[in-house]
Amino acid sequence: MPPFFVIAIDGPTASGKGTLARRLARHLGFAHLDSGLLYRAVGLALLKRGQEPADKMAAVAAAQALDPSGLSDPALRSEETGKAASVVAALPEVRAALLDFQRRFAATPPGGAPGAVLDGRDIGTVVCPDANAKIFLDAGVEERAARREKELRERGAPIIEGAVLRDLQERDARDRNRAVAPLVRAGDAYVLDTTGMDAEQAFSKALAYLRSRGL
Ligand code: DC
Repeated sequence: MPPFFVIAIDGPTASGKGTLARRLARHLGFAHLDSGLLYRAVGLALLKRGQEPADKMAAVAAAQALDPSGLSDPALRSEETGKAASVVAALPEVRAALLDFQRRFAATPPGGAPGAVLDGRDIGTVVCPDANAKIFLDAGVEERAARREKELRERGAPIIEGAVLRDLQERDARDRNRAVAPLVRAGDAYVLDTTGMDAEQAFSKALAYLRSRGL
């Protein structure tokens, strides 16, 4: 068991990982790492330079040069960046370049926090296989698309009918079928299917599970 309490949250795009992870971290006073932001930052670096996300050499160089302390560009949250992130995330060398930072975050949570919450796709399987608690968050793809559309609408982003659902399906397929660290539930993860649940219900269920893990 690691010296700090580590919570791994994995799940597909728009399953509510970010909301749950942030909320748990705030409630528990833990540090939070949204690992998707690291992949997004690599994707965005390429887009800004007019390079293709599938350009392996450029993607690996961007991952190796990444400064994880400055991940505040609002463009990181765009759908275009998310798509690019999913493409660079399939490259093993990109994943390898980002692994150390994530493991160090879990081993010594910043700010003297007593624990860490990391969310992503491979936290419970690859980054922190010894995490004290693992949650696999899921929800039906149509519900996830509806949540993402609502979020985009609130941000004032343009929405093309059916495009969000199609994009999610594409990203799910890429994240689940890649050869390295695919999105897959860890055998010892607690599966929390949030279809038909609101953020409050997901939070209570997660907290009850964490208590059962000795938190
Ligand atoms: O969670 P997100 O939408 O911000 O993630 C963007 C992409 O990054 C996602 O499509 C897959 C990739 N990713 C990953 O491969 N592994 C992680 N631990 C986190 C994200």
